[in-house]
Amino acid sequence: LDGRELLVASNREPYTHSYDDDGDVTVSRPAGGLTAALDPIMQVLSGTWVAWGSGDADFDVADDEGRVGVPPDDPAYTVRRLHLTDRQLSGYYYGFSNQVLWPLCHGMPTRATFDDEFWDFYTEVNETFADALVDSAETDDPVVWFQDYHLAHAPRHVREELPDAFLTQFWHVPWPSWGTFRSCPQHRELLTGLLANDVLGFHDETYCQSFFECVEAAFDDVRVDRDAGEVAYGGHTTRVQSQPLGIDADAHAGLAATEAAESFWASFGERTDLGDQVAVGVDRLDYTKGILQRLDALEYLWAHSPERRGTLTYVQKGSESRSRIDEYRELQADVERRVEEINDRFGTDDWTPVVYDASYYAREELAALYRHADVALVSPLRDGMNLVAKEYVAAQLGDDGVLVLSEFAGAVESLGEEALVVNPNDTAAFATAIEAALSMPERTRRRRMRALRRQVHGEDTDAWIDRQFEGVRDDRSSEDGDG
Ligand code: G6P
Repeated sequence: LDGRELLVASNREPYTHSYDDDGDVTVSRPAGGLTAALDPIMQVLSGTWVAWGSGDADFDVADDEGRVGVPPDDPAYTVRRLHLTDRQLSGYYYGFSNQVLWPLCHGMPTRATFDDEFWDFYTEVNETFADALVDSAETDDPVVWFQDYHLAHAPRHVREELPDAFLTQFWHVPWPSWGTFRSCPQHRELLTGLLANDVLGFHDETYCQSFFECVEAAFDDVRVDRDAGEVAYGGHTTRVQSQPLGIDADAHAGLAATEAAESFWASFGERTDLGDQVAVGVDRLDYTKGILQRLDALEYLWAHSPERRGTLTYVQKGSESRSRIDEYRELQADVERRVEEINDRFGTDDWTPVVYDASYYAREELAALYRHADVALVSPLRDGMNLVAKEYVAAQLGDDGVLVLSEFAGAVESLGEEALVVNPNDTAAFATAIEAALSMPERTRRRRMRALRRQVHGEDTDAWIDRQFEGVRDDRSSEDGDG
């Protein structure tokens, strides 16, 4: 960072303080790859992270400006929480972010709901984020690091207030084609906001190319240099680059090796009628994750391979998500209904085919599931990266599990060689891949898993962070040169 101050902004906060039933304050970590990936990075870099305060106990733990040191046990950086009104949250988060941008970016425009009020709240809240960042800045040239699709409009406002700041943004979800993106009435405003950044990062090159395509189609007065990865617009140049996100693989391996992980797994085994082999799926309950398609494939497998009945248990860990939105509530109900149908159809007194658990799991508990599952099923219909795939691999201390991975997850770029790659919509082929995973000889499993683990350990977050801040040094030297 060349000694510059660091400010981060994301919608979701890394730690949530809430009251439990006894009125005591508890801390939880939200589901989702973004905060899980960023928290360890911030613990090293330190600085201030501005986010929506989603817990109900914030006023108990934070100062008057919503600041609280985290991690709670040993603070290494500051979270500054923004309190949003219910209407702001409905319009900005549930509305524009998750009913417009989320479905569009995942190539599902028919799921989008357009409403002018959503946009009004989106810009209002983005300006609130921008103001909090400007207010938090102690210097006039901080590095400001925006995360994701909730904050496409904010960089422009920060640029106006802090012209010497270095602005970098990472887009954690896919970038859609022009044909899809243009259906958003505010597509030009979104691009204008993003092009106030110095650097704009995507998980992969195809998303960068789609972004260039959108920019060229949306504006006449823009210059796109695809070879240099640069977009010049409104007197400012943005470098657009691909920078796939990894995980802190050592930390995940460490979690899987803890006592807490082991005792959780032992009690899990006692509580549930597991078969000899266990497959696992861990997802936020989101329609992009392909959970229903996965259940279809499992049902197909049990229907066509009776020898898998009684021997294979599928554990589906789900996290409730965005439940104010009809489509998310419907998905939750559909998943529960399908699990029940499958269990009614095949279950016996001493074997439950699908164990579905939507309760909160600590990170060690998740790591235990990953470590002991023979197979992981990661089957999104579309996913920017999908860090569950990487976390499963990192937690495979015995090197003998098999990853079944959708061809539509960004993670397939780096893990596709050694995973069994499936199209989740092709039920029979998906079932065949699960069968292949379950019956793969041990030597092959170990060879593949070792290669996957090398890959995941090699793609650690350091390289990713370096890419985010590439240009920070040049930025200051060009200012020095100018002055
Ligand atoms: C995805 C998004 C993140 C988001 C996460 C969880 O990974 O890219 O920005 O935080 O989902 O979703 P939620 O709406 O609960 O924050």
